[in-house]
Amino acid sequence: MTNRSMSRLKWIRNGRFYRLSEEGTRFQKKVVVITGASSGIGRASALEFATQGARVVLAARRRNKLLELEEQIRNIGGEAISVITDVKKISDCERLVNEALEAFGQIDVLVNSAGISMRATFEDLELEVIRELMDTNFYGTVYCIKFALPHLLKQKGTVIGISSITGLAPLPGRTGYVASKHAMDGFLNTLRLENIDKGLNVMVVHPGFTSSEIRGKALDANGLPQGESPRDEERMMSSERVAWYIARATYRRERDLVLTAQGKMVVWLHKNFPGITDRILVYGISKENQKQMKANAVA
Ligand SMILES: NC(=O)c1ccc[n+]([C@@H]2O[C@H](COP(=O)([O-])OP(=O)(O)OC[C@H]3O[C@@H](n4cnc5c(N)ncnc54)[C@H](OP(=O)(O)O)[C@@H]3O)[C@@H](O)[C@H]2O)c1
Repeated sequence: MTNRSMSRLKWIRNGRFYRLSEEGTRFQKKVVVITGASSGIGRASALEFATQGARVVLAARRRNKLLELEEQIRNIGGEAISVITDVKKISDCERLVNEALEAFGQIDVLVNSAGISMRATFEDLELEVIRELMDTNFYGTVYCIKFALPHLLKQKGTVIGISSITGLAPLPGRTGYVASKHAMDGFLNTLRLENIDKGLNVMVVHPGFTSSEIRGKALDANGLPQGESPRDEERMMSSERVAWYIARATYRRERDLVLTAQGKMVVWLHKNFPGITDRILVYGISKENQKQMKANAVA
């Protein structure tokens, strides 16, 4: 994107016109690779980084969603390419990094947002569900970082893992999900130490409940998508808002980000009053189950 075309542009964000300011050029000349870019937080992050001047590499499995987003970014004067990627496959993650380098010659930021969730107690769960969660959320992150790391180090760039409040606290009905997010946190926090003197920033993002496709796609006890969100998506933080916080924290080279007032409260309570917090979390999820049982009865 040229300086001239950038200065002429006004961007449409969250339904409002937004004049390009310093924020609009923060990531100029930077290349940002984003997994999970076809939906939710990953998609919104791609738009946010592009809006702030970055060239973006979009990765996910759904080609049509990526191409739609690519076009949307081009229409606002940005640069984007799509790489169809299944993060569970090592060879796909290697190809993603190679195609990003071929197109743009460098990688400054890697956002690992590809992820899936689940909803079933461990007692009822097919073991395969846990494997699927770990393969996508944890190993998908590990594979992409492995191939991107030398290039990120060269740029003194940033690795971002989209973890969750459940990377810091438990949640009933999500054993595999919580385990995958704790694994991500441990991996990323250790990666930070190994590269502490090499100029690499490692940022772990812990979003609270965020409106997206994640709950509709969450796997049930048999590994099938549950279909509908059991929570009120309207009352959650939007993916666009989360993406704005992520871009700002990336620019400031922050080490972690905990989002939503409720999310911050859960982390604090779990650290200071774990016994009481266990009860609160169990009660919260029992309300969610009741809501879904009522909805099923109506349907
Ligand atoms: N929404 C929340 O409340 C919330 C809260 C905390 C943390 N998070 C985390 O935020 C991240 C993004 O979730 P979201 O809420 O934005 O959910 P989402 O709307 O369902 O998006 C998930 C993204 O991951 C991609 N994905 C899933 N499996 C993949 C695979 N094997 N290979 C490549 N891409 C894959 C999906 O794309 P394709 O299906 O096209 O491949 C999609 O783009 C996840 O890691 C999630 O755990 C979400």
